[in-house]
Amino acid sequence: MKVTVFGIGYVGLVQAAVLADVGHHVCCVDVDEKKIENLKNGQIPIYEPGLTDMVIKNYEKGRLLFTTDAAEGVAYGRLQFIAVGTPPDEDGSADLQYVLAVAGRIAGLMEEPKVIIDKSTVPVGTADKVSAHIQGILSERGVDLEFHVASNPEFLKEGSALDDCMRPERIVVGTDSAEVEGVMRELYEPFSRNHDKIMVMDVRSAEFTKYAANCMLATKISFMNEMSNLAEKLGVDIEQVRKGIGSDSRIGYHFIYPGCGYGGSCFPKDVQALERSASEVGYEAKILRAVEAVNYRQKEVLFSHICRHYGTALSGKTFALWGLAFKPNTDDMREASSRVLLEALWQAGAIVQAYDPEAMNEAQRIYGTRSDLRLMGTKEAALQGADALVIVTEWKSFRVPDFEQIGIELKDKVIFDGRNLYDPARVEALGLAYYGIGRGRSIIAGE
Ligand SMILES: NC(=O)c1ccc[n+]([C@@H]2O[C@H](COP(=O)([O-])OP(=O)(O)OC[C@H]3O[C@@H](n4cnc5c(N)ncnc54)[C@H](O)[C@@H]3O)[C@@H](O)[C@H]2O)c1
Repeated sequence: MKVTVFGIGYVGLVQAAVLADVGHHVCCVDVDEKKIENLKNGQIPIYEPGLTDMVIKNYEKGRLLFTTDAAEGVAYGRLQFIAVGTPPDEDGSADLQYVLAVAGRIAGLMEEPKVIIDKSTVPVGTADKVSAHIQGILSERGVDLEFHVASNPEFLKEGSALDDCMRPERIVVGTDSAEVEGVMRELYEPFSRNHDKIMVMDVRSAEFTKYAANCMLATKISFMNEMSNLAEKLGVDIEQVRKGIGSDSRIGYHFIYPGCGYGGSCFPKDVQALERSASEVGYEAKILRAVEAVNYRQKEVLFSHICRHYGTALSGKTFALWGLAFKPNTDDMREASSRVLLEALWQAGAIVQAYDPEAMNEAQRIYGTRSDLRLMGTKEAALQGADALVIVTEWKSFRVPDFEQIGIELKDKVIFDGRNLYDPARVEALGLAYYGIGRGRSIIAGE
């Protein structure tokens, strides 16, 4: 099938690559000229395991095209995916300007019937807005062309995006048109082979499903972080509690890791946007508000542990920081907990020596060159001359470090572990002070 994807970011590029890999032909349109130029030269703008090879292979085979020319994209596919960003507006609601801009371009340029598919995460009622916008422009043009607007939210996870798209747990399609359902089934048939993954529902329910999923996951995280803060005050080890409750099949082990808060381009904005949608219809979404507030506070937990250990004497201290990305296997630092910590440490006059396996360029892009940020080539280099170590992202390569080396390098012999990667007893036995999240004993150690 011939497909066009507007918006070649995390979602658009992965979606395009995966569709091309099963044999579809995909035209990728983005307004970012540099990004498109780089993609044509085999330079992939994001880190996602396996993505570079898949993009290059399919580009060379002619199944992926890259362009900034919207007219080329609109003429190309009968299916027109919209995968542009939906960032938070000033009031927290989803800003639909990019989605509507693409819809407007499609309406202004289409010369034959099209199926327009919202893949971006958009509030309930957006497909109706997109429809009205397209119809308005077609009427202005004086043309009468058939079109459908469907919803097909994306559930990929950064870090395992390719696998999630190749082997999706479900493919949600929101449409009331049998014809669109048929086309979408044909498009996704290669991903639905061992059993039918496609769930067809009405458009509004599909739009809502994406928000409900992300808000549920964010709720699990914030709930566990709330428990971890309580555990710390009560002298309880949250890691034992996590195992104790995760073994209950009604609860499960996923998404109940206590930590220093969730980040990324989705959870923070989607919780906010749903809360905003709720208030627009006169409903106070108390749980969503609490989920957001708990996360906001949780992003400060590492800094408060540091202050508990050092008092206010942070000026001139050097912190080794392991992990900048908002989670492992990505270079994405949007809303990352590392940013809250970095900025708090700088504010207090401290210096940070940071290392991340993939997000170094992103950190450089965000913060530029500054004397209190040293981007180091390895995790070991980040320790050299540092006073303390802080772990913010749970990359695999941080899980089994050389604690003896850490003990030799760190002047103040203290680890602040924002992801509970280590066993406090083991670390303390090596003569290092240890602060985890909700470990009970660590508060005792710090007092
Ligand atoms: N990142 C994720 O993990 C993830 C997962 C599921 C859903 N989503 C949702 O998918 C959507 C896209 O997210 P993302 O992370 O891929 O965003 P992104 O910021 O990485 O990419 C968006 C792209 O759209 C391009 N763009 C903007 N206006 C355009 C226009 N008029 N025409 C063509 N291209 C245009 C931008 O240049 C950019 O390359 C959002 O709604 C997001 O909530 C994201």
